[in-house]
Amino acid sequence: MAEFRKIATVADLPPEGEAKEFECEGRTVCVVNANGKYSAMDNVCPHRGGPLGQGVVDGDKLICPWHGWSFNVRTGESVQRPSTAIPMYGLKIDGDDVLIEIKQKE
Ligand code: FES
Repeated sequence: MAEFRKIATVADLPPEGEAKEFECEGRTVCVVNANGKYSAMDNVCPHRGGPLGQGVVDGDKLICPWHGWSFNVRTGESVQRPSTAIPMYGLKIDGDDVLIEIKQKE
């Protein structure tokens, strides 16, 4: 089952070409603004746990600040290791609220 939770307001979102970290129910979520489109993913790099929300956005890729692995911001897939991907969250904007989709354990 999935539910949407508020993580921010629209004014808090990162500007185009940047990423930002948000806290939500004990987890940190990375929101990326790539080419004017937002996407949300887990903040933990699957390489060694780097904070992806502090990374650099390059086109439709997010580059981890620790060792430079890069990820497709729409799919979460690693460029270096396509079998590895960051968990993605659904994201929607409802008025001024930014919501992400949290999957609950069944
Ligand atoms: S922790 Fe992200 S590239 Fe190493």
